[in-house]
Amino acid sequence: MIKVNDENLLFKFDYSLYEEKVKSINEMINKKSGPGNDFLGWLNYPETYDKEEFERIIKASKYIKSNFDVLVVCGIGGSYLGARAGIEALNGLHNQKKPEIIFLGQTFSSDYIYETLEYLKDKKFAINVISKSGTTTETSISFRLVKELLEKKVGKAEASKAIFATTDASKGALKTLSTQEGYETFVLPGDVGGRYSVFTAVGFLPLAVAGIDISMLMNGAHQAMVDLRNPSLKENEAYKYAVIRDYFYRNNKQVEMFVTYEPRLVQLGEWFKQLFGESEGKEQKGLLPDSATFSTDLHSLGQFIQEGNKVLFETILYLKHPINQVIIPEDKDDLDGLNYLKGKSLEFVQEKAFLGTLKAHTESGKVPNVILSMDKLDAKGLGYLFYFFMKTCAMSAYLLEVNPFNQPGVEVYKKNMFHLLGKKGY
Ligand code: PA5
Repeated sequence: MIKVNDENLLFKFDYSLYEEKVKSINEMINKKSGPGNDFLGWLNYPETYDKEEFERIIKASKYIKSNFDVLVVCGIGGSYLGARAGIEALNGLHNQKKPEIIFLGQTFSSDYIYETLEYLKDKKFAINVISKSGTTTETSISFRLVKELLEKKVGKAEASKAIFATTDASKGALKTLSTQEGYETFVLPGDVGGRYSVFTAVGFLPLAVAGIDISMLMNGAHQAMVDLRNPSLKENEAYKYAVIRDYFYRNNKQVEMFVTYEPRLVQLGEWFKQLFGESEGKEQKGLLPDSATFSTDLHSLGQFIQEGNKVLFETILYLKHPINQVIIPEDKDDLDGLNYLKGKSLEFVQEKAFLGTLKAHTESGKVPNVILSMDKLDAKGLGYLFYFFMKTCAMSAYLLEVNPFNQPGVEVYKKNMFHLLGKKGY
């Protein structure tokens, strides 16, 4: 479903340099013997997932769809980015489907939270609060506020039927609260970390409420799981991509610019940045993951990429076919001079923009490009894509010799903030 095109790296990549290393890391992943091995639950999850819970997610999503106008998803980081990326990728940016999905719990912004609560005042809304730890401050503050609003609107008893919690199976403040208040709960398994959790209830409940076929999504993940088991660099596209990334890291590239040509994939770029940034950026190592949308950003970052500091390589996720076709019309006056394109599709124009940019960035800009190509993106393809990046990331981080599944660095700001806030013990 995804092919890695390595013809624009500006040199001939010698995969044999990596064969042995990749084989041994692959074995380490399968045997779960590397650092962070207790967080490899996602690896076989498309096979081992809790089928009973999956059915309960579908049932809850139908209940939410038929009873509410809005679902408020309250979470941050791995507890929201996958769902948001998936919903935008498949439903687009001007989706009118009910219920509307809105996100809260990912910021301390007084204005954002105020605006969201005002917006919800006269809406019939349900809440899906998502937190593995159950104590993340951004999420907890927003949840406290939105829960209070809901309870004031409909009363405590009705509110408890409209609140769905996704958290650890047995511990944490959110688990305790859910048990006490009688919320329906879903589990973020102990052996799956936040940024690897899109195929659990974390991603599935919001995605299903948004009308996305989560069985097809899991189907795509399952296909990727099977396709990407083979350690051979001739066969495994995720590992091919991982070794190319590693090579660039070791050969003077500091930044990977993840590029798509689709505005509906901007949030996928955010998910990508979290996945690679939190998994690899440690011990003073790692590529800085950045993202851009072309051709939009060719009119901003394009200048830097073409002629600026050669710190980066580009990874282009290129979808060959759009979901919808648009044809450029004829204009009898042709004052804009566009009649030479009359009758042509935007798919045709986009392809030429892609090829022209590729040539510009590689040939004269000397910026290497890795192309990940897919025919088009549907639920199955998206499932494949998420899993593909997760598998790439595990291999890539192990090549760097860092633990792909922890994020010790994110605690530092929290400690300082808690101290400044006067939290007990800080
Ligand atoms: O990938 C991760 O583990 C993090 O980004 C977490 O998902 C994020 O910090 C939210 O944590 P929690 O689900 O505990 O609220």
